[in-house]
Amino acid sequence: MAHVSPGHGLWHLRPASAVGSAETADSARIADALLNSVVGGSSGGSAATAPARHRARFHTLAVQDVRPLTQESIEVTFAVPEELADEFSYLAGQHVALRAQIDGREVRRSYSLCRPPARGSVSVAIKQDQGGRFSTWAQTALAPGGELDVMSPQGAFTSTLAALDGAHVAGVAAGSGITPLMALAATVLSRSDTSRFTLVYTNRRATDVMFLDDLADLKDRYPSRFVVHHVLTREQRSAPLLSGRIDEERLRGILDALVLPATVDEWFLCGPFELVQLCRDTLADIGVETAHVRYELFTTGEPGQEQPEAGRPVIVREDEPTRLIEFTLDGQSGSVETPVSADESILNAALRVRPDVPFACAGGVCGTCRARLVDGSVTMTENYALEQDELDRGYVLTCQSHPTSDRVAVDYDV
Ligand code: FES
Repeated sequence: MAHVSPGHGLWHLRPASAVGSAETADSARIADALLNSVVGGSSGGSAATAPARHRARFHTLAVQDVRPLTQESIEVTFAVPEELADEFSYLAGQHVALRAQIDGREVRRSYSLCRPPARGSVSVAIKQDQGGRFSTWAQTALAPGGELDVMSPQGAFTSTLAALDGAHVAGVAAGSGITPLMALAATVLSRSDTSRFTLVYTNRRATDVMFLDDLADLKDRYPSRFVVHHVLTREQRSAPLLSGRIDEERLRGILDALVLPATVDEWFLCGPFELVQLCRDTLADIGVETAHVRYELFTTGEPGQEQPEAGRPVIVREDEPTRLIEFTLDGQSGSVETPVSADESILNAALRVRPDVPFACAGGVCGTCRARLVDGSVTMTENYALEQDELDRGYVLTCQSHPTSDRVAVDYDV
């Protein structure tokens, strides 16, 4: 999972100065919950401030609770000791990276925090992906009393509304994309008596619906202000509009009949690339300002899509041309040479001399590896994490940035 910014592909960047800038619930209970959750009323405090970016660090936290959500997913709650409470404070919509040694290899994955911010604990939902090494391991290895390395929260998939009174927030989620939206919905609804949240949540089958009971609880607590529309792609629902894959026609129908975009102040989209892109394009086409649409991607979990690891071995030979990468991290300078022929990322190179360089997904998605380019130029392969204003200020994803000048310098501390 991770936060996304407009577009993807190759980004050619220069420094800021140059840029200018479960249990399976029984079917009756599921049917009831789905039915109850569809109709939520449609009448229509302060929002959280923009999250301050801070240098993310791993800490070993104790597993406090593991709760089955579906047959393939669990909610894991970590206890946060008081001395780390400030570092683990977060905004609804942010995520953490988890780090484990599995079969002798370090594996890191990012997961959204699924509960509204609360001091003393953080919770994530982990769905088992096909072939996913970490998610498969987590289903059996994590248990109360155990420990895991958890990175302090990061991410900008958060509300930017100045106030929530009278605000209507809408979310579109697929599968485990519900995770950040659980935190966002609960937060938006609890912080004002007049806010509303409309959620469109798509899954293959009813048994795949994560947080089914929690969604029903939100409905019970906020019957006139929370609406959830479950869309099932491989099961028939009574409403044809809510049965089948969300293509453009179905999406437009859902928006027109059930969400009413003209009434929405802020949008949150979280799912696989295709769905998020469809939603973005459709919302733009009907006149929704892109500034009001926030989105986050996750991989689909299909075989072969497992997130890449960082730390590819690269050998620097004496007789070949190299580029110099300099970096600042925690106030300390470091440098490393990288062979031109290797076309190595800054992150990969930096990890050879500083194993504590921050990263999580290594795929351009989570933003954990963000740094500011202060000298030289790079090509950024993918960017699903940085907003345009961050790009304008010279920030790059070091896991995706490949030097194109003989010398580049980045600063992780700003
Ligand atoms: S480590 Fe996730 S975007 Fe670079």
